[in-house]
Amino acid sequence: MAIKPIITVPDPILKQISKPVAEVTDEIRALMADMLDSMYAAKGIGLAAIQIGVPLRVIVMDLVWGKEESGDARGPKFYINPEILEKSEETAPYEEGCLSVPEIYEEISRPAHIKLKYMNQDGQEIIEECDELQATCIQHEMDHLNGVLFIDYLSRLKRERAVSRVKKNKRLADEHAL
Ligand code: NI
Repeated sequence: MAIKPIITVPDPILKQISKPVAEVTDEIRALMADMLDSMYAAKGIGLAAIQIGVPLRVIVMDLVWGKEESGDARGPKFYINPEILEKSEETAPYEEGCLSVPEIYEEISRPAHIKLKYMNQDGQEIIEECDELQATCIQHEMDHLNGVLFIDYLSRLKRERAVSRVKKNKRLADEHAL
């Protein structure tokens, strides 16, 4: 297990389309362990493999961790080759952020309820109804698999501003690291 650096905008890697996983092997489980380590270290609640540079349709999420009432409890979830089977007309807004677009938060509306099909860490096929934060988060992470970021839903001006802010913060952080 290892903490990997998280790729940030405007790195073109984030625009890649990730490929499906043929089989859930120990290698995939090792990748997911690295993804979780990296996500927890960065204090995120979800991460797609492409964010650590691996173009595979693999997502990890933990919506238990980080909540005050759950203390140190963790509830990692693994989504391999996720597909949305159904989505509601009704949408729900959420102030989204992304480890690949650090320190930027914007309200995005997405379908409020979805029916999801995916493989879990044991390679079992699961069909699950999702709503609230889980629905928002899984749709955000699934966008990563298709090279889409939440800032792509913003106006061009807002998006460009967000990317320049991330670049500037990174430059300042690199300078301080010298
Ligand atoms: Ni993200």
